[in-house]
Amino acid sequence: MSEQGAVVVIGGTRSIGREIVRYFAGRGDLVVMTGRDAVAAREVAAGTPGRVSSAVLDLAKPKGIASALKGVGPVRAIILSAIERDQNTIADYDIDRALSLATLKLVGYTEVVHTLMGRLTPDASIVMFGGLAKERPYPGSLTVSTVNAGVLGLVRSLVVELKPVRVNSLHPGLVEDSPYWEERQAALDVARSKTPIGRLARMDDIVDACAFLVDNRAVNGVELFIDGGISCV
Ligand SMILES: NC(=O)c1ccc[n+]([C@@H]2O[C@H](COP(=O)([O-])OP(=O)(O)OC[C@H]3O[C@@H](n4cnc5c(N)ncnc54)[C@H](OP(=O)(O)O)[C@@H]3O)[C@@H](O)[C@H]2O)c1
Repeated sequence: MSEQGAVVVIGGTRSIGREIVRYFAGRGDLVVMTGRDAVAAREVAAGTPGRVSSAVLDLAKPKGIASALKGVGPVRAIILSAIERDQNTIADYDIDRALSLATLKLVGYTEVVHTLMGRLTPDASIVMFGGLAKERPYPGSLTVSTVNAGVLGLVRSLVVELKPVRVNSLHPGLVEDSPYWEERQAALDVARSKTPIGRLARMDDIVDACAFLVDNRAVNGVELFIDGGISCV
């Protein structure tokens, strides 16, 4: 249990972010989780055993982030997991959705860190989610692949600008029990058949990797792929 600061999970209302909230709360950490809807976020926080509170922010509207997080005290970890996929392709390019996703992942993630940087404890750690789509685009991943690649530049810049705070990125492959992919079994079957370990990552694998990046005192500036080795083949 850490008494030194909160674990802040941006995008904690469902899926991988939700599991991360459960994990850190379950081991006794103080957790602040966010969603865009106050009622939904409060319900998730209240329904999670442990010390969990909620805040409401929209990463696609980054000018509101500072006021949304003003009640947050010392912070020992920031975990940026939120996404809203846009399904863009170059042939059928939706500028508004691309702007929203690019703002969410790049400006929004950055503004969260900017807002909280003065509250980070000396041993603090930041984990930003990218994804295998940056290496292996799939139909409709144009913006997702682009912003997930952008996470790399953001992480490397923050390692330098925020030292000694540790900043790392976590890149899942298809996470088979995450709600987004659970509905797309055909894509999962193809990915599974190509994955060296013969299985796909699951949400508990991703939570485990996230905890490693938060807790390990020497890991810094890495791109951690949790994909069963598919990025090697
Ligand atoms: N699932 C996978 O297989 C997979 C694979 C590769 C990479 N990833 C990465 O892993 C991360 C989590 O993915 P996921 O599948 O768990 O995502 P998800 O199920 O789509 O969850 C999205 C979370 O982001 C929040 N969110 C959405 N739009 C937001 C906005 N504009 N501002 C603030 N919060 C917002 C949602 O909260 P509200 O809707 O309540 O606001 C929700 O908590 C993402 O960064 C993704 O790129 C996932």
